[in-house]
Amino acid sequence: MSLTDATPAVRSSRQVRLRTPAARTCAGGVLVALAIALAGCSSIKGGDNANVILGKQAFVAKCGSCHTLARAETKGSVGPNLDEAFRADLAEGLQRSAIRGVVEDQVKIPNPEGAMPKDLASGAILADIAAYVTQSADAPGKDTGLLATAVQAPGAGKPAVEAGGKLPIPASPSGQLAYVTNKATATAGSVTIEMPNMSGVMHNIAIEAGEGGATAKGTPIGASQFVSKGTATLKVSLKPGAYTFFCQAPGHRAAGMWGTLTVKP
Ligand code: HEC
Repeated sequence: MSLTDATPAVRSSRQVRLRTPAARTCAGGVLVALAIALAGCSSIKGGDNANVILGKQAFVAKCGSCHTLARAETKGSVGPNLDEAFRADLAEGLQRSAIRGVVEDQVKIPNPEGAMPKDLASGAILADIAAYVTQSADAPGKDTGLLATAVQAPGAGKPAVEAGGKLPIPASPSGQLAYVTNKATATAGSVTIEMPNMSGVMHNIAIEAGEGGATAKGTPIGASQFVSKGTATLKVSLKPGAYTFFCQAPGHRAAGMWGTLTVKP
């Protein structure tokens, strides 16, 4: 599924949300529906002390598996691409500062018919997330300074090495659509791949012959069960050569959840 082809229902849910009195009053300062405005704006005001570093970490952990946001290097495709969504809103005249309210409203009251779960974040953490999205959505360039190192680059951990027939390849604990490493080595024979996953996002691990990269090449040699909290295991018998390990959850491999396994004689 391409990130841009969000269904009309998805697009219209945001259009409706943007026209709620709270969002409009906060953005334009129009003195209507004061009670709603106060309720809607107090959380936005609280966001002035927001910590965007914690916000980035929480966005990656709680939102990035479903949403693409270039600055956060997340590539989820279940929900709308937030750079594209807010680019459209900004072009239509939404003030950047009003993005906070839109994000907070969406997290507090997601569309009941949509795929976005309720109660993902609240309070200070939600304010932090909303502040980070506000400064990042459709913002050119890359995060710098402390923000740049707030989250480890996906797959950048030390290569996984098989020992005694066991090969540990953990899923990224930060919720990124990645394993901690995109490189692994093993010796030929029977190998049990273990994938601890503490992220809360559903993942598995599958193996395919050859260096397939981000797109599938043929039928997997084997695939583990899916887990969101726990350890998935996969036992395979491997000949020397190059293999690709990857997650079979929709969109995860394309988002970067794959790596290369080199099997030596
Ligand atoms: C399990 C997947 C999933 C997760 C996790 C998720 N979302 Fe969503 N999100 C969606 C879907 C699907 C939609 C579109 C349907 C809807 O409005 O509910 C959406 C819509 C949105 C929108 C409106 C965008 C638009 O174009 O209308 C925003 C903003 C948003 N999400 C922010 C967040 C934030 C912030 C988090 C983390 C706290 C988050 N989402 C976590 C799936 C998800």
